[in-house]
Amino acid sequence: MFTQAFFIFSLFFASTQASVLDFCVADPSLPVGPAGYSCKKTTEVTVGDFVYSLAATGNTSNIIAAAVTPAFAPTYPGVNGLDISIARLDLAEGGVIPFHTHPGASEVLVVIQGTICAGFISSFENKVYFTTLKRGDVMVFPQGLLHFQINSGKGPAIAFVSFSSPNPGLQITDFAFFKNDLPTEIVAKTTFLDIAQIKKLKGVLGGTN
Ligand SMILES: *[C@@H]1O[C@H](CO)[C@@H](O)[C@H](O)[C@H]1NC(C)=O
Repeated sequence: MFTQAFFIFSLFFASTQASVLDFCVADPSLPVGPAGYSCKKTTEVTVGDFVYSLAATGNTSNIIAAAVTPAFAPTYPGVNGLDISIARLDLAEGGVIPFHTHPGASEVLVVIQGTICAGFISSFENKVYFTTLKRGDVMVFPQGLLHFQINSGKGPAIAFVSFSSPNPGLQITDFAFFKNDLPTEIVAKTTFLDIAQIKKLKGVLGGTN
Protein backbone atom coordinates (compact mmCIF):
# COMPACT_ATOMS: atom_id res chain seq x y z
CA MET A 1 0.00 0.00 0.00
CA PHE A 2 2.80 2.37 0.95
CA THR A 3 4.69 1.49 -2.23
CA GLN A 4 1.65 2.20 -4.38
CA ALA A 5 0.99 5.53 -2.71
CA PHE A 6 4.64 6.45 -3.07
CA PHE A 7 4.57 5.50 -6.77
CA ILE A 8 1.53 7.71 -7.39
CA PHE A 9 3.14 10.53 -5.43
CA SER A 10 6.37 10.16 -7.45
CA LEU A 11 4.46 10.27 -10.73
CA PHE A 12 2.60 13.39 -9.63
CA PHE A 13 5.81 15.00 -8.45
CA ALA A 14 7.65 14.15 -11.67
CA SER A 15 4.93 15.56 -13.92
CA THR A 16 4.57 18.66 -11.75
CA GLN A 17 8.31 19.22 -12.02
CA ALA A 18 8.23 18.81 -15.81
CA SER A 19 5.39 21.29 -16.21
CA VAL A 20 7.22 24.02 -14.28
CA LEU A 21 10.61 23.52 -15.98
CA ASP A 22 10.68 26.82 -17.90
CA PHE A 23 14.40 26.52 -18.58
CA CYS A 24 17.48 24.53 -17.69
CA VAL A 25 20.32 26.96 -17.09
CA ALA A 26 23.60 25.03 -17.36
CA ASP A 27 25.53 24.02 -14.27
CA PRO A 28 28.96 23.65 -15.95
CA SER A 29 30.44 22.18 -12.76
CA LEU A 30 28.56 18.95 -13.60
CA PRO A 31 29.48 16.69 -16.57
CA VAL A 32 27.87 17.42 -19.94
CA GLY A 33 25.88 14.68 -21.75
CA PRO A 34 24.15 14.34 -25.13
CA ALA A 35 21.18 16.34 -23.82
CA GLY A 36 23.43 19.13 -22.56
CA TYR A 37 24.36 20.19 -19.05
CA SER A 38 22.38 19.47 -15.90
CA CYS A 39 20.19 22.30 -14.66
CA LYS A 40 21.37 24.80 -12.11
CA LYS A 41 19.08 25.08 -9.05
CA THR A 42 16.33 27.59 -9.94
CA THR A 43 17.10 29.53 -6.75
CA GLU A 44 20.64 30.12 -8.06
CA VAL A 45 19.59 31.32 -11.55
CA THR A 46 20.00 35.04 -12.21
CA VAL A 47 19.19 37.26 -15.19
CA GLY A 48 22.93 37.25 -15.95
CA ASP A 49 22.63 33.59 -17.00
CA PHE A 50 20.40 34.70 -19.91
CA VAL A 51 22.53 37.65 -21.03
CA TYR A 52 25.81 37.66 -22.95
CA SER A 53 27.83 40.42 -24.59
CA LEU A 54 29.12 40.04 -28.12
CA ALA A 55 30.04 43.73 -28.34
CA ALA A 56 33.81 43.19 -28.42
CA THR A 57 35.59 42.88 -31.76
CA GLY A 58 37.29 39.47 -32.06
CA ASN A 59 41.07 39.35 -32.47
CA THR A 60 41.76 38.76 -36.17
CA SER A 61 45.58 38.73 -35.87
CA ASN A 62 45.85 35.10 -36.90
CA ILE A 63 46.40 32.89 -39.95
CA ILE A 64 42.77 33.19 -41.13
CA ALA A 65 42.53 36.95 -40.37
CA ALA A 66 39.19 36.20 -38.72
CA ALA A 67 37.68 35.43 -35.33
CA VAL A 68 34.66 33.48 -34.11
CA THR A 69 33.34 34.52 -30.70
CA PRO A 70 30.89 31.83 -29.60
CA ALA A 71 28.03 32.25 -27.13
CA PHE A 72 27.36 28.54 -26.67
CA ALA A 73 26.12 26.66 -23.60
CA PRO A 74 29.55 26.24 -21.90
CA THR A 75 29.95 30.03 -21.60
CA TYR A 76 26.34 31.15 -22.02
CA PRO A 77 24.46 28.92 -19.55
CA GLY A 78 20.99 30.33 -20.35
CA VAL A 79 20.85 28.64 -23.79
CA ASN A 80 21.37 25.16 -22.31
CA GLY A 81 18.39 22.94 -23.11
CA LEU A 82 17.06 25.39 -25.72
CA ASP A 83 17.52 24.78 -29.44
CA ILE A 84 19.46 28.00 -29.92
CA SER A 85 22.82 29.78 -29.60
CA ILE A 86 24.72 32.61 -31.27
CA ALA A 87 28.22 33.70 -32.24
CA ARG A 88 29.94 36.79 -33.62
CA LEU A 89 32.17 36.67 -36.70
CA ASP A 90 34.85 39.28 -37.29
CA LEU A 91 36.71 39.17 -40.59
CA ALA A 92 39.57 41.53 -41.34
CA GLU A 93 39.92 42.57 -44.99
CA GLY A 94 40.69 39.36 -46.89
CA GLY A 95 39.89 37.25 -43.82
CA VAL A 96 38.27 33.82 -44.13
CA ILE A 97 36.39 31.33 -41.99
CA PRO A 98 37.73 28.27 -43.86
CA PHE A 99 35.55 25.31 -44.85
CA HIS A 100 33.94 23.93 -41.71
CA THR A 101 30.87 22.12 -40.44
CA HIS A 102 28.66 22.30 -37.37
CA PRO A 103 27.71 18.67 -36.77
CA GLY A 104 24.89 19.61 -34.40
CA ALA A 105 23.10 22.59 -35.91
CA SER A 106 21.85 24.58 -38.86
CA GLU A 107 23.09 28.17 -39.00
CA VAL A 108 21.62 31.48 -40.05
CA LEU A 109 24.01 34.38 -40.72
CA VAL A 110 23.21 38.09 -40.83
CA VAL A 111 25.75 40.58 -42.15
CA ILE A 112 26.08 43.65 -39.92
CA GLN A 113 28.98 45.34 -41.68
CA GLY A 114 30.96 44.86 -44.89
CA THR A 115 30.70 42.35 -47.71
CA ILE A 116 30.91 38.59 -47.22
CA CYS A 117 31.20 35.89 -49.87
CA ALA A 118 29.59 32.81 -48.33
CA GLY A 119 28.58 29.37 -49.51
CA PHE A 120 28.00 25.72 -48.76
CA ILE A 121 28.21 22.39 -50.58
CA SER A 122 25.38 19.89 -50.60
CA SER A 123 26.15 16.31 -49.61
CA PHE A 124 24.02 15.26 -52.57
CA GLU A 125 26.02 15.64 -55.82
CA ASN A 126 28.31 18.25 -54.16
CA LYS A 127 26.30 21.11 -55.56
CA VAL A 128 27.73 24.49 -54.52
CA TYR A 129 25.54 27.36 -53.37
CA PHE A 130 27.51 30.58 -52.91
CA THR A 131 26.94 34.28 -53.24
CA THR A 132 28.05 37.68 -52.04
CA LEU A 133 26.18 39.12 -49.08
CA LYS A 134 26.01 42.76 -48.03
CA ARG A 135 24.84 44.51 -44.86
CA GLY A 136 21.41 43.25 -43.82
CA ASP A 137 21.54 40.10 -45.95
CA VAL A 138 20.80 36.77 -44.30
CA MET A 139 21.88 33.29 -45.42
CA VAL A 140 21.10 29.87 -43.99
CA PHE A 141 23.57 26.95 -43.87
CA PRO A 142 21.87 23.55 -43.42
CA GLN A 143 23.07 21.29 -40.60
CA GLY A 144 26.26 19.34 -41.12
CA LEU A 145 27.15 20.76 -44.56
CA LEU A 146 30.59 22.17 -45.39
CA HIS A 147 30.51 25.96 -45.65
CA PHE A 148 32.74 29.05 -45.63
CA GLN A 149 32.72 32.82 -45.27
CA ILE A 150 35.22 35.25 -46.87
CA ASN A 151 35.50 39.00 -46.39
CA SER A 152 35.43 39.95 -50.06
CA GLY A 153 35.03 43.70 -49.55
CA LYS A 154 37.03 46.66 -48.30
CA GLY A 155 37.65 47.04 -44.56
CA PRO A 156 36.49 44.74 -41.78
CA ALA A 157 33.29 42.69 -41.96
CA ILE A 158 31.04 41.69 -39.06
CA ALA A 159 28.30 39.07 -38.97
CA PHE A 160 26.25 37.34 -36.32
CA VAL A 161 25.41 33.68 -36.72
CA SER A 162 22.65 31.89 -34.85
CA PHE A 163 22.47 28.12 -34.44
CA SER A 164 19.64 25.64 -33.90
CA SER A 165 21.45 24.10 -30.92
CA PRO A 166 23.08 25.35 -27.71
CA ASN A 167 26.11 23.26 -28.69
CA PRO A 168 26.49 23.35 -32.52
CA GLY A 169 30.08 22.10 -32.55
CA LEU A 170 32.68 23.40 -35.01
CA GLN A 171 35.06 21.34 -37.15
CA ILE A 172 37.32 23.30 -39.48
CA THR A 173 38.27 20.94 -42.30
CA ASP A 174 41.88 22.10 -42.80
CA PHE A 175 42.53 21.96 -39.06
CA ALA A 176 41.00 18.47 -38.91
CA PHE A 177 43.23 17.26 -41.78
CA PHE A 178 46.50 19.02 -40.94
CA LYS A 179 46.47 20.20 -37.30
CA ASN A 180 46.78 16.60 -36.15
CA ASP A 181 49.36 13.83 -35.55
CA LEU A 182 48.07 11.44 -38.23
CA PRO A 183 51.13 10.30 -40.24
CA THR A 184 51.60 12.37 -43.42
CA GLU A 185 51.55 9.17 -45.53
CA ILE A 186 48.04 8.36 -44.29
CA VAL A 187 46.85 11.94 -44.84
CA ALA A 188 48.25 11.72 -48.40
CA LYS A 189 46.61 8.34 -49.01
CA THR A 190 43.22 9.54 -47.74
CA THR A 191 43.16 13.00 -49.34
CA PHE A 192 45.12 12.44 -52.60
CA LEU A 193 47.22 15.51 -51.74
CA ASP A 194 50.99 15.71 -52.27
CA ILE A 195 53.28 14.92 -49.32
CA ALA A 196 55.00 18.33 -49.67
CA GLN A 197 51.71 20.22 -49.45
CA ILE A 198 50.60 18.20 -46.41
CA LYS A 199 53.92 18.81 -44.63
CA LYS A 200 53.63 22.52 -45.40
CA LEU A 201 50.09 22.74 -44.00
CA LYS A 202 50.99 20.64 -40.94
CA GLY A 203 53.87 23.06 -40.34
CA VAL A 204 51.70 26.17 -40.67
CA LEU A 205 48.78 24.82 -38.62
CA GLY A 206 50.76 23.02 -35.92
CA GLY A 207 50.34 19.39 -36.96
CA THR A 208 53.03 16.71 -36.50
CA ASN A 209 54.19 13.43 -38.11
C1 LIG B 1 45.70 39.43 -30.84
O1 LIG B 1 46.34 38.18 -31.04
C2 LIG B 1 47.73 38.30 -31.28
C3 LIG B 1 48.25 36.91 -31.65
O2 LIG B 1 47.87 35.96 -30.70
C4 LIG B 1 48.40 38.90 -30.05
O3 LIG B 1 49.79 39.04 -30.28
C5 LIG B 1 47.79 40.26 -29.74
O4 LIG B 1 48.30 40.76 -28.53
C6 LIG B 1 46.27 40.15 -29.63
N1 LIG B 1 45.70 41.46 -29.54
C7 LIG B 1 44.84 41.81 -28.59
C8 LIG B 1 44.32 43.19 -28.65
O5 LIG B 1 44.48 41.03 -27.71
